[in-house]
This record gives sequence, C-alpha cells and structure tokens, in this order.
Amino acid sequence: MKGLILAGGLGTRLRPLTYSGSKQLIPVANKPVLFYGIEDLKEAGIRDIGIIVGYTDERVQFIKDAVGDGSRWGVKITYIRQDAPRGLAHAVTTARDFIGGDDFVVYLGDNILNKGISSFAEEFRNSDMDASILVTQVEHPEIYGVAMIGDNREIIEIEEKPENPKSNYAIVGVYFFRSSIFEAIKKIKPGKGGELELTDAIHELVVSDKHRVNAHVVKGWWDDTGTAEAVLRANHLVLTDLKAKREGIVEEGVRLIGNVALGKNTIIKAGTLIRGPVIIGKDCQIGPTYLGPYTSIGDNCVIRGGEIESSIIIGDTHINLEANKRIVDSLIGRHTIINSARETLPSGCKLVLGENSEVQI
Ligand code: DAU
Repeated sequence: MKGLILAGGLGTRLRPLTYSGSKQLIPVANKPVLFYGIEDLKEAGIRDIGIIVGYTDERVQFIKDAVGDGSRWGVKITYIRQDAPRGLAHAVTTARDFIGGDDFVVYLGDNILNKGISSFAEEFRNSDMDASILVTQVEHPEIYGVAMIGDNREIIEIEEKPENPKSNYAIVGVYFFRSSIFEAIKKIKPGKGGELELTDAIHELVVSDKHRVNAHVVKGWWDDTGTAEAVLRANHLVLTDLKAKREGIVEEGVRLIGNVALGKNTIIKAGTLIRGPVIIGKDCQIGPTYLGPYTSIGDNCVIRGGEIESSIIIGDTHINLEANKRIVDSLIGRHTIINSARETLPSGCKLVLGENSEVQI
C-alpha cells in the first residue's frame, strides 16, 4: 500500500501565516502538522509516500526543505506537483502515475489523529471493500464532508459540506482506496466551490458504480487544523499527552509545575513560573515570566515579563511585556516582536500587521 499526503491548497483561512509558509508546516506542540501524517503512515507500515505540493516554486520548496527525502523517518518521499488547487479529487488524479495499480491511503496534510491509522490500514488490506473512510461524530457537520452510515458500517450516502446534514458523521481526512477511485473521479464535475471533491468521487463509487465503501469511527480525537482556532485546539489535544523533558538549564528560583519539556540550550530564568503542559524548543531565553498550560514555544525565542497561556509562538520571536499583560489563545508567526508600549509616547497599541491579521485588544 502506498501513501499520498495532500499538502497543496492555499490555506486562505490561516492567512497571514500562509503568505510566508505552508499551512501543513504550522507547528502543533512544536512539530509541523504534516509530520504527524508521515509518522502515522510509517507506523501503518507504509514506506512509499507521495506528497502533493502546491503550484508555486516557493510553496514546493517550503515543504521540501522541511521534509527532505523522508530518510529521517525511514520512508521514501516523492513530491508530486499539482498545477493549481483544483480540489482533493484533482490532487489524487495528479498522483495517478505514482500510485500505479497499488492500493493507497490518502491523508490530508492538515489533519491530526490521536491514535493513528494502523488498525484501519490493516483491516483494509484484509478486506474486499473498494474503499474505506474514517468518520467521527461532530457538533457542526456542515463544515465537513458528511456520511450516512448503515448498520454494517457501509456508506449509504455521502455529501460535501451540505447545508442540511443528514447525519453528524464528519469525514476525517484519511481515505483508503483501490485504483477504482480513478475511474470514479473521471465521472465527477466540480462542486459548489469550483473544486473536484473527493467526497463526490466516493458518492460516485457507491451510487453509480455500486462499489462497496465502508466507514470506521476514529478512536480518540481528530482535528483538521484549517483555522487558527483549530490549530490551537489541536495544540491542546497533543500537549495533553506531553512528557516532561529537561534538556535546557533551569535557574534556581524557577517553579515548574506539571509536564514541561525544555529543548537544548534553553535557559529558564529565576523568578519564572511555568505551569504545564508547556513545550519550549531550543536556544530560548525565558523569564522572568509566567507560562500557562497548553503553550508551545518554538526555537530561538526570548520571552520576558507578562504572562502567556494557551498559545503557540512558532519561533524566532521576541516578547517583552509589562507584568500585568497577558497573551492568551494566540498563534504568533516567526520573526515577530512584541514589546511593552509603556515607555513610548503617545500611549496606546502600536501595530505593524500583515494583510489578513487579526488582533483583539
Ligand atoms: O478535514 C476533513 C475535511 O477535509 C473533510 O471532512 C472534507 O470532506 C474534505 O473535503 C476536506 O475539506 P477541507 O475544506 O478541510 O479541505 P482543504 O481545502 O482544507 O484541503 C485539505 C488538504 O488537502 C490540505 O492539506 C490542502 C490539500 N489540498 C487541497 C486542495 C483544495 C491539495 O493538496 N490540493 C487541493 O487542490
């Protein structure tokens, strides 16, 4: 079985971060989202992985620089370029030559699953189903693909982002296919958003081609990190299982409570309180400050004063706050500087923000 990770697309809902990077590389608990998918595929015994990458040289390079040839994971990575973000089904068709006649699993590059995909891959290998998808019950199915499932877990109906969902089973971004999916994709037309939807191709498999497709309910949590809110939610979920690690230097007079992971050459200065789960990368200078639960701080950050909680500071960032200032539920991109405005006149917030930034002050 081969793996195909879809990491093209524009990531418009994560602007401005996606102007200078790819959404699949936004770190959750200091690890790019895309790496979770590669690790899940590897764990499921899949060594031959194609990655669909976006259509500008720059976007392709972001991903290549981060992932390389896959040897770090013991897998082989093949990059496949999609000429434009024409939809998930179009992305799959682009990989036709890479897949050949093999069975394959499509893994959406912005998805994170808590318990991996090994058991589902094993079941598909041993089954006679034509395709198999993962689903989970959600409160707002209308923002996802939605499946109606029969008693024996066979798909009865499947729709992409329906206004009036007929079930609350959202389609999770992991799909197991045989080469029959390529024939089904040939028969579909672009959906409402002008994209060729994989959901419509699966509908075609079930309804027109009378192929058998079943669904598995995922074990543990799942998240689609398509928005800042969802990235922060995924960060909470992943950090819940964080193990404490102490590679940095902790000065006397620091209080570390709960699970705190510190990277190499990071210094935590006297007077700092960190209440985990908190992960801090390497080469950081932290404190004196307060860091609260569910915070991830990437490499090369200097943080002094104030309080930070439930946030992701991606890396290479300087933050210098007054004692009573708190940063919460925030997602902060690289090379950001946040300084106290106390010493400067006129008083007030001074902002230099890229297009599509969002600030609550
Ligand atoms: O996350 C689960 C949902 O993912 C499913 O419930 C939906 O049925 C499915 O259509 C998909 O919806 P999204 O709106 O979340 O898809 P998105 O545009 O975010 O794309 C998912 C991944 O595929 C993402 O890593 C970008 C990549 N992609 C997307 C498009 C449109 C490509 O590689 N090429 C593309 O043309």
